Amino acid sequence: MKELIKELTEAYGPSGREETVRKVIEDKIKPMVDKMEVDSLGNLIARKKGPGKRVMLAAHMDELGLMVTYIDKNGFLRFSNVGGISPHILLGERVVFANGAVGTIGCEKIESMKDLNFQKLYIDIGASEQKEAEDQVKIGDIAVYQRGFQDLGRRIISKSLDDRVGCAVLIQALKEIESPVNDLFFVFTVQEEVGVRGARTSAYRIKPDYGLAVDVTRTGDTPESETMAVALGKGPTVKVKDTLIITHPKVKKIMVDAAERTGIPYQLEVLERGGTDSGAIHLSREGVPSGVMSIPCRYIHTPSEMVDYDDVINGVKLLKSILETPLD
Ligand code: ZN
Ligand code: CO
Repeated sequence: MKELIKELTEAYGPSGREETVRKVIEDKIKPMVDKMEVDSLGNLIARKKGPGKRVMLAAHMDELGLMVTYIDKNGFLRFSNVGGISPHILLGERVVFANGAVGTIGCEKIESMKDLNFQKLYIDIGASEQKEAEDQVKIGDIAVYQRGFQDLGRRIISKSLDDRVGCAVLIQALKEIESPVNDLFFVFTVQEEVGVRGARTSAYRIKPDYGLAVDVTRTGDTPESETMAVALGKGPTVKVKDTLIITHPKVKKIMVDAAERTGIPYQLEVLERGGTDSGAIHLSREGVPSGVMSIPCRYIHTPSEMVDYDDVINGVKLLKSILETPLD
């Protein structure tokens, strides 16, 4: 699966511009699904038919980005964030646009790091005047982190593990499930990072009986981190609550039972800030019992996110075990 994660994380795909990632996923899953379609917002919906309840699975394809807002006469680009990026991690960072244009991020003179904000930062693409910059990049174009996948053995570092690792878990589960007992809709969503938008419209279309998002979550296992009872390497999580959802007790029970039945390590997760696609799914139509399985991840939203490979493998196992449960 590492090859798959590498290919997915290295693909370009900020919110609203997910087509490259989507193409990678389409090519991989096409032979394994009964039906596949792209809806009007760009969500990829793949169905694997089964006799039971309609279950919607969601992992988001989009990653964070920097959108060009202004190009000055010397060819420097000003930008605004697409999704939750902190300006502090951007100093010296290298970014790449859809057309392959590369830039580095510089900063105006500041007295203190406390003064650092997006207004002080710019992207330098090596142009010496406005026209030369505009030949490569237009207002509204989006750059993403330019970072390669790094295999550390047990652990992996990459950009956009949030949530391409979730996409990889869905793809792998799709491969391994031959005759599902439930009617499965694997949805690779758009625009999660700017407000769970793709999940909202795809849930409306699918009308699921149950919803389950697969995404990353933070951990509390690094030096002086905020307390959180999630650590790398201790298994995927069963989310109990985040900012957008309180997991439906029935779904939580299904998940915990599935983990215990198959002896898969898992952790209970309460995420105090942040949310994911289930936030939209469970509020669709008249309400959909929903939950989230998370892969623990350090340094979320930085160019170097880290996950434990065992958690990914166990994530696939847990997802399969959940989906093998006959639901009523
Ligand atoms: Zn995410
Ligand atoms: Co995110």
